[in-house]
Amino acid sequence: MAKLNVNICGVNFKNPVIAASGTFGFGKEFDEIYDISCLGGISTKGLTLEPRLGNPTPRIAEAHGVILNSVGLQNPGVDVFLRDDLDFLKSKHIAIVANVAGRTLEDYEGICARLDGLVDMIELNISCPNVRCGGMAFGIRPESVKEATRVAKSALKHTPLMVKLSPNVESIPANARAAEEGGADALSLINTLNGMVIDIERRRPFFANVTAGVSGAGIRPIAVRMVWEACNAVGIPVMGMGGITCAEDALQFILAGAAAVQVGTANFSDTLAMPKIIEGLNSWLDAHGVADVNELRGALQLD
Ligand code: FUM
Repeated sequence: MAKLNVNICGVNFKNPVIAASGTFGFGKEFDEIYDISCLGGISTKGLTLEPRLGNPTPRIAEAHGVILNSVGLQNPGVDVFLRDDLDFLKSKHIAIVANVAGRTLEDYEGICARLDGLVDMIELNISCPNVRCGGMAFGIRPESVKEATRVAKSALKHTPLMVKLSPNVESIPANARAAEEGGADALSLINTLNGMVIDIERRRPFFANVTAGVSGAGIRPIAVRMVWEACNAVGIPVMGMGGITCAEDALQFILAGAAAVQVGTANFSDTLAMPKIIEGLNSWLDAHGVADVNELRGALQLD
């Protein structure tokens, strides 16, 4: 069996397959289907200081090869997470990444301070396209990426900070470097692409929020390219995501330079997607005589 564990900023992930935020809740529902202790880790649904009801419905639509969501950061609030979910996740011995969001820089600072030392890693969500205040607003320009990162980092004494980048930007390398300059310990990308569906009978947007975030297999080539660009722009570790459905998809991100991957939308169409990807990685590495998945990180050859 090949070695699958990866170390990112001092955090041990028993394998490089992590549940992506917003597709896995806080793990309990999936744990009824399989023992989630097999995963490398989980990134929680985006947490805010206060509970949020999210956007009006409809909030989900399908299109060829993708889904669109406009959930609007519905979540029970960080204190309910700490009371009801943290002990459960700790009992699973997987790396716990808390995805955090806010309306203001003070919100980001406050939630980071609240979670510092309690989870393994913070994933700073400055890339949600579905909220009017905060969210992606901080993730578009390099200056605000750097500032949001700096503010979050200033609240963290014990927990490494990973910044989740938006694909809806002019330059991924510029924003990746801005996060690194702001003090990020790691990056994750990509969050969803901004999209829209039109109800032609009603001649209106399908989504109550008009636009929505696009994810799923159809966006994978874009995500691989952006992860590759980010990995070439910074010296800190990168988690790649966007349309991963199988081990071979995950390997594209790792060859592009990702230290680990997050799997999101695939969990909706196949609840066993992640255990299958982990098993598939094992088989692929064994079949190709690769003893350690870390050997493949950034091993893309351009000539
Ligand atoms: O709408 C949402 O809750 C999505 C969040 C995200 O993309 O980060």
